[in-house]
Amino acid sequence: MRISRNKVAIIGAGVVGTTIAYSLVLQEVCAEITLIDINEVKASGEAMDLQHGIEYCGRNTKITAGNYMDCKDAEIVVITASAPYSGELDRLQMMDKTANIIKSIVPNIMESGFDGIIVVVSNPVDIISYLVHHLSGLPKSQVIGTGTALETARLKQHIGEILNIDPRNVEAFVFGEHGDSLTVPWSHVRVSGKNLMEIIRDNPEYSDLDLKKIEESTRKAGFDVLGKKGNTQYGIASVATGIISAILRDEYKAIPVSTYLDGEYGVKDVFCGVPAILNRYGVVDIVELHLTEEETERFDNSVNVIKENIEKLGL
Ligand code: LAC
Repeated sequence: MRISRNKVAIIGAGVVGTTIAYSLVLQEVCAEITLIDINEVKASGEAMDLQHGIEYCGRNTKITAGNYMDCKDAEIVVITASAPYSGELDRLQMMDKTANIIKSIVPNIMESGFDGIIVVVSNPVDIISYLVHHLSGLPKSQVIGTGTALETARLKQHIGEILNIDPRNVEAFVFGEHGDSLTVPWSHVRVSGKNLMEIIRDNPEYSDLDLKKIEESTRKAGFDVLGKKGNTQYGIASVATGIISAILRDEYKAIPVSTYLDGEYGVKDVFCGVPAILNRYGVVDIVELHLTEEETERFDNSVNVIKENIEKLGL
């Protein structure tokens, strides 16, 4: 019988991987974290640095540096490894380089005997999640990309700012690619339980709210941050922590992750961002919103962008 170790292995001890580790520690999500990186010395230093502060972190999380065999008894493996950023203007431009790295990583994870859930962060995350699912042979419920969860958080934060309300009172989901073709089904955005369209109709001060402009700023937010600080880390780390927490705490939480569609929304054989229910087994259900014709058209366009790039990988 498998004993739950409440353990997370993180592949890639770079800025994103270590920020995810730190976020997991601060939110007391798991009992154990193993950092795995091609640069073993760095992984060891990161683990030591994180461990040194445990006294002030609320839970005695055990943090070590390890190797792929340490994936065997992990409930979750997080893949953050990706090619170094070299000025790409679109996450899709990183596909080939990152895919080659992933092809060397996934077999090593599976050779350890790992049979848990893989959370994919590496970009372009939808295509990489499809590749990880293909290489790992894990059930579709056990390969989860961070998807459009980050754009959804960015959108909710933006709407909250405009309406001067806690972003957690905004209900919205960004659909499709974690990238330029993403789309927002605006007919399903609600604030404090009221449909956003009704809010705009009932409040003249919002009559000139430019939804296309809000969607565009959501689309570009990642690259805005990248342009200012050279990477992104805290947003994606918080998202990954939320996904891991939903799994390890069996939360049955709806998060727009990149998940495998097998007929939902009339779409088959692709990973992309849609609202999915997460629990201890991974993706336990997919929420099928009733999209308008125009929303469906924009979603299908985003799905096609992902599919076209999956085909370029020869999958
Ligand atoms: C971002 C990265 C994770 O959007 O793609 O911040």
